[in-house]
Amino acid sequence: MDAERRQQYLNAMGIVPWVRRDPMVAGMQPRLIGEQAPPVETTEAEALLPDRETVVSATVPQAWEALRDEVAKCRACELHRSRTHTVFGVGAQNAGLMIIGEAPGAEEDRQGEPFVGRAGRLLDAMLHAIGLGRDQVFIANILKCRPPGNRNPRPDEVAACGHFLEQQLALVQPRLILALGAVAAHNLLHTDDAVGRLRSRVHSYGEAAIPLLVTYHPAYLLRRPEEKAKVWEDLQKLHGLLQDI
Ligand code: URA
Repeated sequence: MDAERRQQYLNAMGIVPWVRRDPMVAGMQPRLIGEQAPPVETTEAEALLPDRETVVSATVPQAWEALRDEVAKCRACELHRSRTHTVFGVGAQNAGLMIIGEAPGAEEDRQGEPFVGRAGRLLDAMLHAIGLGRDQVFIANILKCRPPGNRNPRPDEVAACGHFLEQQLALVQPRLILALGAVAAHNLLHTDDAVGRLRSRVHSYGEAAIPLLVTYHPAYLLRRPEEKAKVWEDLQKLHGLLQDI
């Protein structure tokens, strides 16, 4: 959808797109690493250790690099045979919002980046409508390799790949997760409820109880544009939550 039509559509829906107030959207501020470290009394031995901030800032980039490397070399399931590139994920490593899709498609497999095909362009437009750019969120998929013919991921492939996404979530520590479509929602929430039922609630992910919203996958919206109104509703909710948490 071009910008003018999107605007007409939003107007018709009575939805006013948010305008970014400054480059770093309120509620999207990066966490200050080491901010919550409580003051502690140090023993002589402890005083010799590097402080927490130094350790965190040194180890986090290494952890990202090691993870990226591990994904690139992965042969844990059959998908490695047909892939052109692994698709690691993209965006801000300290993003407040993490967006999780299903698996790379043909274009993503070619370029090694998530959501760069038609569905990706629609995702960009959706983010733009709430004042966000790709570089302000982190985008990843349930699978890092393309299933041939874009078939659904198999349980054994999800089982083999899942730890990569878990590590990405642990590194980003988002304050909010957006699951795009049934495959992402089902695997993150361990349910098989329809997206139409899941999208109306704020769910919680993992032990850290990260708030999680579900909405329709942009590829589904390309086939069923009449569902876009619901997605705009979900995006409004998401924007509101980002301000609050
Ligand atoms: N669909 C997805 O779920 N992920 C992508 O990266 C591209 C299309």
